[in-house]
Amino acid sequence: NSRLLMDKFGRVHDYLRISLTDRCNLRCVYCMPAEGMKFMENEKHLTFDEIEAVVRVAAKLGVRRLRLTGGEPLVRPNVEELVERLSAIAGIEDIALTTNAIFLAQKADALKKAGITRVNISLDSMKQERFGKITRGGDVKKVLAGLEAAFRVGFHPIKLNVVLMKGFNEDEVDDFLRMSIDRDINIRFIEYMPIGHDDDGWRDLYLPLEYVKERCEALGLAPESTEAVYGNGPAEYFKLPGAKGTIGLIHPVSDHFCEKCNRLRLTADGNIKPCLFWQDEFNVRKYIGDDQALEDLFFRALDIKPESHEMAKVLFQEELSHEPTVRRMSQIGG
Ligand code: GTP
Ligand code: 5AD
Ligand code: SF4
Repeated sequence: NSRLLMDKFGRVHDYLRISLTDRCNLRCVYCMPAEGMKFMENEKHLTFDEIEAVVRVAAKLGVRRLRLTGGEPLVRPNVEELVERLSAIAGIEDIALTTNAIFLAQKADALKKAGITRVNISLDSMKQERFGKITRGGDVKKVLAGLEAAFRVGFHPIKLNVVLMKGFNEDEVDDFLRMSIDRDINIRFIEYMPIGHDDDGWRDLYLPLEYVKERCEALGLAPESTEAVYGNGPAEYFKLPGAKGTIGLIHPVSDHFCEKCNRLRLTADGNIKPCLFWQDEFNVRKYIGDDQALEDLFFRALDIKPESHEMAKVLFQEELSHEPTVRRMSQIGG
């Protein structure tokens, strides 16, 4: 089969983000409402067999890299079994994980053995009081223990995802920058995105990543562009003078990277999502067992994939061209 997942803008899709559950052991302010979410029933989750069937077809169509996300992927029982099954699929070259790392100290060895090559850890503050506020009750010590476990088992590269929120954590940018100097880690600053919010709260917290560059300048650190970090796309990478690690900038709102988009998403309830931002979804469930029909579904999803998201329009309160997703970030997996 020679059909590649190329869309009408010429973008080739070789990266699939698979959300394993909408559940999470934290409730970050940018990801879930304060009251929490009504989680989806167990029966609604794609089973490991179903995920494997979809990935086999995706791999046939040129998908080479997978990322497991959530909610929190490690709250799904036996993730390592799934990883093992996915790594055995012909064509799959890289399986990464995005996690809050609360369970990572416990699971790192098993995950590494099963075939996870690298992890992206969400950590927006290293100060307990603040981390507790952002995650609504999380224990930062567990995350830091998870991070050390990631180093110990040899995941590489290790990335930290730091979502910047005005008034919450911008005063920790300097600490994170210093961490990129001291350790072989990639610190990725991320612009807060308006996903699944009907709201104005987002606009008050949004901080353009220009701020990180200003901090580098204030500290007398000139970031040098580097290609040295392995990854699937959205970040631009830099290195500070003399640093062991790197910094990455993910700025979907102030300057989007959709022209290089290479990813599709599979939600925990079995929907192919061509784009993070928009509502369009294609449910795989009734096609499982019929590989031709699954292939066709992938192409139908690609066919309507828009050229880009419209987060900047949300910022400036302009009308969108069509329906944005009603899912919260926890139901997509970022
Ligand atoms: P690498 O393979 O290491 O480059 O990972 P990644 O950046 O693709 O994945 P991760 O789950 O760590 O996501 C980091 C941030 O980028 C999160 O805030 C995601 O929501 C955001 N992100 C990932 N993919 C996209 C995308 O296609 N569009 C937009 N706008 N944001 C994305
Ligand atoms: N804007 C930007 N990043 C977000 N994440 C979750 N919600 C948002 C948002 N609204 C990040 C998490 C995690 C990754 C999957 O997405 O911090 O690292
Ligand atoms: Fe791709 Fe949509 Fe993300 Fe843009 S917002 S990079 S088109 S998934």
